[in-house]
Amino acid sequence: MVKLGVNLDHVATIRQQRYTPYPDMLNAIKISESSGADSITMHLREDRRHIQFEDIIIARENIKTKLNLEMAPTYEMCKIANKIKPDFICIVPEKRQELTTEGGLNVKKNFGLLKNIIEELKGSEALVSLFIEPDNTVIDLAKELGVGAIELHTGKYAEATEENKEFYVSQIKNATNYAHNLSIIVNAGHGLDYTNVQEIAKIEHINELNIGHSIIAESIFLGLSEAIKKMKISIKSVK
Ligand code: PXP
Repeated sequence: MVKLGVNLDHVATIRQQRYTPYPDMLNAIKISESSGADSITMHLREDRRHIQFEDIIIARENIKTKLNLEMAPTYEMCKIANKIKPDFICIVPEKRQELTTEGGLNVKKNFGLLKNIIEELKGSEALVSLFIEPDNTVIDLAKELGVGAIELHTGKYAEATEENKEFYVSQIKNATNYAHNLSIIVNAGHGLDYTNVQEIAKIEHINELNIGHSIIAESIFLGLSEAIKKMKISIKSVK
């Protein structure tokens, strides 16, 4: 079964909105893991709008599954990652003005920088992945950079109209096959929810889906544990 990485950024978003000590991150981590999360994802953004450095420390000390650190390709973040030693690192593009990550990395334009950042991250001993669009030419560049994994951006699929959905699914499917044949681990995420996750979960060779916003939103009604279990069931129910 495809694994579920639970992104806890928006637990921190609620906390940072008022700078309260709640909702408690350690509690969120424990509940996520006991409810079936295969990994916990946190994005330490440059502007620290949600996850704080202390959250990463708490995560590293307490996570029993795997810690996936999302980070922008900067040397400041490399220093942090090499100190924290997450299990996985996903390099993502970051813009201050964006509400959330808006798309995959421009690997071609940033090839030199990414090469240096990936070299620098060797100190973290983590499995490094690149957040990219489902495009074979970008996958070739990822292979050239020597990363062991990629995360395919599913945002365009998530936002597509009914007529366009099939096109984006086949794009993700083709990219997954292409990367798998190059021995690259394929993860996917962004914009996935209870209604659209199945189409992606049933793609062969996808290793893990990283999902945050929809799970945290659903936890308002169901509680975090039930929201995660519901997502696990959605993923499992694919034919
Ligand atoms: N994967 C990556 C690389 C992301 O940047 C995000 C958003 O932080 C996600 C997955 C999760 O997206 P969502 O919150 O829409 O489920």
